[in-house]
Amino acid sequence: MSLVKKLLLSTSVAAVASFSNQVSATDERPIIDYNYRFLPEISRKGMVSSQEAIATQVGADILAQGGNAVDAAVAVGFALAVTLPQAGNLGGGGFMMVHLAEEDKQVAIDYREMAPARAHRDMFLDENGDVDRKLAGYSHLAAGVPGTVAGLHHALSEYGTMSLPEVIAPAIKLARDGFKVSYALESSLAARTKRLTSNKATAKAYFKEGGVPYSAGEILTLPDLANTLQRISDLGLDGFYRGLTADLIVTEMAKHGGFITHDDLTNYKVVERTPVRGTYKGYDIVSMPPPSSGGVHLIQILNILEGYDLQSSGQNSAQTLHLMIEAMRRAYADRSKHLGDPDFYAVPVNQLIDKGYAGELRSLIDPNKATPSSEVAPSKILPDDGPNTTHYSVVDQHGNMVANTYTLNYSYGSGITVEGAGFILNNEMDDFSAKPGSPNAYGLVGEEANAIEPKKRPLSSMTPTLVFKDGNPWVATGSPGGSTIITVTLQTILNMMEFNQNVATATSFARIHHQWLPDRTVVENGISPDTQRLLEQMGHTLVDRKYTLGSTQTVAIEGEYFYGYSDPRRPGAKTIGVDEVKESK
Ligand code: GLY
Repeated sequence: MSLVKKLLLSTSVAAVASFSNQVSATDERPIIDYNYRFLPEISRKGMVSSQEAIATQVGADILAQGGNAVDAAVAVGFALAVTLPQAGNLGGGGFMMVHLAEEDKQVAIDYREMAPARAHRDMFLDENGDVDRKLAGYSHLAAGVPGTVAGLHHALSEYGTMSLPEVIAPAIKLARDGFKVSYALESSLAARTKRLTSNKATAKAYFKEGGVPYSAGEILTLPDLANTLQRISDLGLDGFYRGLTADLIVTEMAKHGGFITHDDLTNYKVVERTPVRGTYKGYDIVSMPPPSSGGVHLIQILNILEGYDLQSSGQNSAQTLHLMIEAMRRAYADRSKHLGDPDFYAVPVNQLIDKGYAGELRSLIDPNKATPSSEVAPSKILPDDGPNTTHYSVVDQHGNMVANTYTLNYSYGSGITVEGAGFILNNEMDDFSAKPGSPNAYGLVGEEANAIEPKKRPLSSMTPTLVFKDGNPWVATGSPGGSTIITVTLQTILNMMEFNQNVATATSFARIHHQWLPDRTVVENGISPDTQRLLEQMGHTLVDRKYTLGSTQTVAIEGEYFYGYSDPRRPGAKTIGVDEVKESK
């Protein structure tokens, strides 16, 4: 029996009665609070939480071998590229937040895709000047220059302790020898058979003869992908951005009217950005800055909410949800105007996360009545000078933490597999505003700040986030979900910070989402009909989307213990704790 299970069973009645989720000061055992409805995974030496169980195990094994959180995160990133093809990737990009325990320092690694040099502002407009959604979503033009391999390589070489061949080996083995298709992957592939099999290379790689989807329990091997991973293992960046893999990408583009060239690939750059920082009632929030809008608006919404007594109004009460919706509405209005790639547009980050500005926005919120979005314009602040993504979180025995969100954009991105290279290309170019004022696939509108330009990075909502309590690293979290990523991450940490919920209960609680336009609030099952009626009486339009919001993968440190939880909203996810580390690297 594992130590943790023993500890769980030995939890005393007295401990239960204390209603604490902290480590007990007297016996140093984790106290399981049965007042909470959901229990997290618990461990002492490390934890990995990801959307796919095999990849989580890969990360836990690296921690158990003595690798640090970055080693494990890079291994998980490569493993998900094999076992979670709907979002794990080599052909996409993302953002990684790292907390380095020894230096007490946080870094924000931007490996978002870049627009090819031949990209131009109107590339997705048809002859009537309307956005051609097929071109923006499903063509070779939809692909930005992939950043994932460069991002994972950068993280490992700067902050890891293991070699690239060591952390990539499990992914190569999974791709070459095959892995058991899960029910989650079977249903995901089956639901998109028509779209995915319309690309010959995708049909060959991810389906059986005749475009038949794999069934759960069958073995999927990905030999072309294994060879690509092997080249990365052998040659590092040159295994992807130069040589055979680059040739295969460029040939694919040239054959099908795509823009990516050898120069685009060799010019791809990872950027370390200054993390965006905020506070909420004594907690420190450290998150991803532009070109993600995630961190900025997470902090802006928290700043607005900080001025209210949410504990008195009550968790998920109509009053609290009203205030949350109004704060979300105002933040997303600002997103539409002010957010874009900071290398091309002077994003007014400091003004947007200013507590005084949040106070001004708060003063415009009627506590009893919804403000129609038509009456909420993006603020007039001036620039300074100037659905499928996946998230995973890792914590190691030293207290290093990683929150990583990466994506192909839609499920399986563009659906196009690079022939001979075995990986799927992103369709991240659709995250640009193809036509200012016209909504993208997530209904998000944008303006000049996010217009298409060569070498620019499309605006993202990805929100890999670290939270600190009393100055100590506490939580690493994030979510997929397109435009909903920010509000899902917000509610998860708010449930922990404001409502003292453990990581599992905070994750499982029902969520809502508002993004300014369209002017409607999405409510998950679990927001009571009474609450919904009260919100409607305040003037809110509610939509029951019939499916769920986001899928957070969260780890937390409490005293000597690590807690973690995989969101139950999407199948296949797993959090695994590590209790023994064989040797320290
Ligand atoms: N592709 C979704 C995002 O980056 O926000």
